[in-house]
Amino acid sequence: MTIVELRDVRKVYPLGKVEVEAVKGVSFGLEKGDFVSIAGPSGSGKTTILNMIGCVDRPSAGSVVINGHATKDLKDKDLTTLRHETLGFIFQSFNLIPVLNVRENIEFPLLLGRERVPKKDKAQWIDYLIEEVGLSQWRDHKPNELSGGQRQRVAIARALVTKPEIVLADEPTANLDSSTGEQILALMKKINREMETTFIFSTHDAKIVGLADHVIRLRDGLVIENVRNGKNMGEAVGDLMENSVAENSAMMGSKAPSPADAPKAGS
Ligand SMILES: Nc1ncnc2c1ncn2[C@@H]1O[C@H](COP(=O)(O)OP(=O)(O)OP(=O)(O)O)[C@@H](O)[C@H]1O
Ligand SMILES: [Mg+2]
Repeated sequence: MTIVELRDVRKVYPLGKVEVEAVKGVSFGLEKGDFVSIAGPSGSGKTTILNMIGCVDRPSAGSVVINGHATKDLKDKDLTTLRHETLGFIFQSFNLIPVLNVRENIEFPLLLGRERVPKKDKAQWIDYLIEEVGLSQWRDHKPNELSGGQRQRVAIARALVTKPEIVLADEPTANLDSSTGEQILALMKKINREMETTFIFSTHDAKIVGLADHVIRLRDGLVIENVRNGKNMGEAVGDLMENSVAENSAMMGSKAPSPADAPKAGS
């Protein structure tokens, strides 16, 4: 099932008298439950794309569809609800609240907006998440008493506390040494498998791109590669169709794609 779809998305930022075209017409679909990497060098448009998927920013043209909702058709109030109920966020700089301890930081998103976790289950759910990210011993500590890797674990638990379907992580390992970064990614992948949460993370670290099921590679605001489970997904909708035909015939053992192998709806 497609959970996120970008259709010919463009983003232009005004910069004084000129305009910067950060994203120049990007189309791709992401499947529910996948572990997705948006990869590319600095300035390629990773953050801009994640911000549009995260409904923090709107495209200048084209559309972003989250769980069947085109974000451009939603009123601000509905966009906020979609954000709160469907999305969780992990940031490069952790963004924890310094005066709150680990447990309180994780609980914090539950205090904003509508509750998705019943009050009676809340304490147990938070305890479960603290255990899941390996911080049981640290639950009463403040962020400044934690290492970078531990802070990012808090941020992962906080992103999951509202039970989002999608977690967005913009360079979640950029402020960590490489072995801690790999541990954090492995933890995200474990949670992705266990809870079936879709993770979308950006990175320019080739090592962690390798852990993804689906890699969207960007350069200068364009998709230069779109590979899911080793199969090229193309970029435009037309390409997607052709590749689905090729995939189907490959599965059926025939080398030459034939129109009779065209995918059926929902396949
Ligand atoms: N608010 C803004 N105003 C003007 N230009 C911007 C703005 N945000 C981003 N840009 C420009 O858009 C382009 C893409 O930026 P973006 O932050 O999406 O890249 P990135 O791939 O996330 O880079 P990095 O790896 O350095 O985080 C860059 O040229 C950047 O300078
Ligand atoms: Mg960025």
